[in-house]
Amino acid sequence: MPTTNKSAVEQPYKVHHPEILTPLIDPVISTLINKFPNKLADLVEQQGSPLNLVWPHAFELNTQALLNVLKQYQVPHAIFYGAKANKSQSMLGAAANSGIGVDVSSIHELNAALRAGVPGTKICATGPAKTAVFHQALISAGSLICVDSLEEFDHLHSVIPTQTGPTKTRVLLRYRPKSSQNSRFGMGSQELLQCLQRLTEKPELFHFEGFHFHLGGYGFESRAQAFREVCGFIEAAREMGLNPQMIDIGGGLPIRYVEPETYAQFLQNDNNPSHYYNQKVPATYYPYGSELTATQWLTLLLEAEHSLGLSIANYLQTQNITLALEPGRSLVDQAAISIFRVTRSKQLADNKTVIFVEGSSFSACETWFASEYLVDPILVSTKQQPHAPIQAYIAGHSCLDDDVITHRLINFATAPQAGDLLIYINTAGYQMDLLENEFHRHPLPRRLMATCCTEGNYAFSPDY
Ligand SMILES: Cc1ncc(COP(=O)(O)O)c(C=O)c1O
Repeated sequence: MPTTNKSAVEQPYKVHHPEILTPLIDPVISTLINKFPNKLADLVEQQGSPLNLVWPHAFELNTQALLNVLKQYQVPHAIFYGAKANKSQSMLGAAANSGIGVDVSSIHELNAALRAGVPGTKICATGPAKTAVFHQALISAGSLICVDSLEEFDHLHSVIPTQTGPTKTRVLLRYRPKSSQNSRFGMGSQELLQCLQRLTEKPELFHFEGFHFHLGGYGFESRAQAFREVCGFIEAAREMGLNPQMIDIGGGLPIRYVEPETYAQFLQNDNNPSHYYNQKVPATYYPYGSELTATQWLTLLLEAEHSLGLSIANYLQTQNITLALEPGRSLVDQAAISIFRVTRSKQLADNKTVIFVEGSSFSACETWFASEYLVDPILVSTKQQPHAPIQAYIAGHSCLDDDVITHRLINFATAPQAGDLLIYINTAGYQMDLLENEFHRHPLPRRLMATCCTEGNYAFSPDY
């Protein structure tokens, strides 16, 4: 049952915003935190800590913003939400509501997307490890399959005869761009041409729809370059009598967790070993203060030169090629917050303080970076009397020394006390619960879908 909150501003909770890496916050979420902090405390009381609140309205706004750019440039387009970014079912529901497709990398993501109401024909499967069962389910659903290798093509071919029905198997071929020659994903020129040749031999089985690539990093320039490379294969495919209609450029659109100036200042002034309790600055980070938003990135990509006098947008229009995107992180920008309850703080040697929370280093982490989720948490304090300001790092509830959520020393305006809440903003993009486990037999954290109809009327329901 959804629960709602209608009462006006009530206390005794006080919200303390951090000052170093101050998070950008969606206005609807900001209202909940600042005007109804007691609601957050009630939810944690009922649901346990950590608690993840997932916000579909943010997903839908992000989708609409990207669609607006694509429409403005009048290019044929398709968006497949990269479902790997978050395990939330309500994010898939938001994708279905927005009318976009979903990029799936396992049979479980496929089933979840279908359950959310995404039509099978709007689903695209990526990833290099598709099993026979997954391939068969994709064929049955009429989904698009990004073929990663000649070996995978042969495997896919081998499972087709077991299927019934008149529809052909829809495929994109994954290209390995020159900038990532050492990658294990996709095919180089020779394999791609061989795969095209195999497709020409089986027109009764396959419906070839075009090419796909995905690159690491967040630059639009590397995508523009890979796009230009793929265009040569569009020509080659046409010469072979095939009819490519799509170039899918994968994900990697950037998002902004903090203002670029805030981030630049942080890097310059507040990011040396003395700012970390372990005296170590992590080697890599997500670029939290991205210069570009996702829509600016997409605009620059569409305006990038394709060939002399022709932009990528012009190319797509004149060749009637659909530009497909697979944004993961950028569609879930601002779509979750993670709330931790403080167990206690403790004085350590060297005048250091650690704050223990109910949760672990897996509950808010930079999954694929060898670093932590860097953005400062917001403190919701249950105590009226302010305590002295402190600097502290934040540790999880396990008995492992490395179970640290934030190694960086956070400046708190008032010392967090038992029962207070720490809120990490914008954790939907890979950070919140992808690595969760039941260490020490703690139950998996709950995930609630949060919606807001009118100011102050929030509804929360289980996200499954
Ligand atoms: C094939 C593919 N598509 C899309 C994505 C989503 O990328 P992002 O979340 O950076 O947009 C990934 C991420 O690894 C991917 O491997």
